[in-house]
Amino acid sequence: MTQDELKAAVADAAIKEIEPHLEKDTVLGIGTGSTANLFIDRLGPLRDRFKGTVASSEASAKRLQDLGIEVFELNSVGSIPFYIDGADEVNAQLHMIKGGGAALTREKIVAACAERFICIADGSKEVARLGNFPLPVEVIPMARSYVARELVKLGADPVYRQGVVTDNGNQIIDCFDFMIDDPVAMEARINAIVGVVTNGLFASRGADVLLLGKADGVERTALR
Ligand code: A5P
Repeated sequence: MTQDELKAAVADAAIKEIEPHLEKDTVLGIGTGSTANLFIDRLGPLRDRFKGTVASSEASAKRLQDLGIEVFELNSVGSIPFYIDGADEVNAQLHMIKGGGAALTREKIVAACAERFICIADGSKEVARLGNFPLPVEVIPMARSYVARELVKLGADPVYRQGVVTDNGNQIIDCFDFMIDDPVAMEARINAIVGVVTNGLFASRGADVLLLGKADGVERTALR
């Protein structure tokens, strides 16, 4: 199976996971990226079965709206039973690195509001230790050089992602050569640097369910 077929298989599995729980007043949290896009496409035909969505990026919001699915402002929404999103890396504790598409901050905010985080990923995203994928850090533009110097002190090789402006008007630094032994502690440590908006470690609030696409089928891991 190709990587795209594996992504499609986990998008199908996520639909099966949430479909029995859809009610007329359900608002879903929707992630960003190629795997989330496949999930969005499959939500289209179900649009009359639930109220709408909160999107983690302008790109996902547009894709949802193009399919006739309502997108609400997070501040106008009460409970969000499910947040469905991809990952750049995921470990056995369902800690993740996210933000390859620069949407990490809104992803983290919507995920924080959700009762359950369902991570959908092809098998290539599974790792024993996080860090091979460069960890994204969203920064306030004027703080970029300062934050980069602080990241060097933590052992990272920070690289400014040229030409990228986030949906929040900020910039991204990617941390190369930065293997992470304690994702919960490192997430907090980086977030404590002045000028950091957030970093792409999703560990203090990791996924609750992982649907991982493998050649022999979708593997489901549920921590909660
Ligand atoms: C977006 O900023 C990311 O967090 C994505 O969720 C992550 O990069 C996974 O993307 P793909 O599904 O395209 O691999």
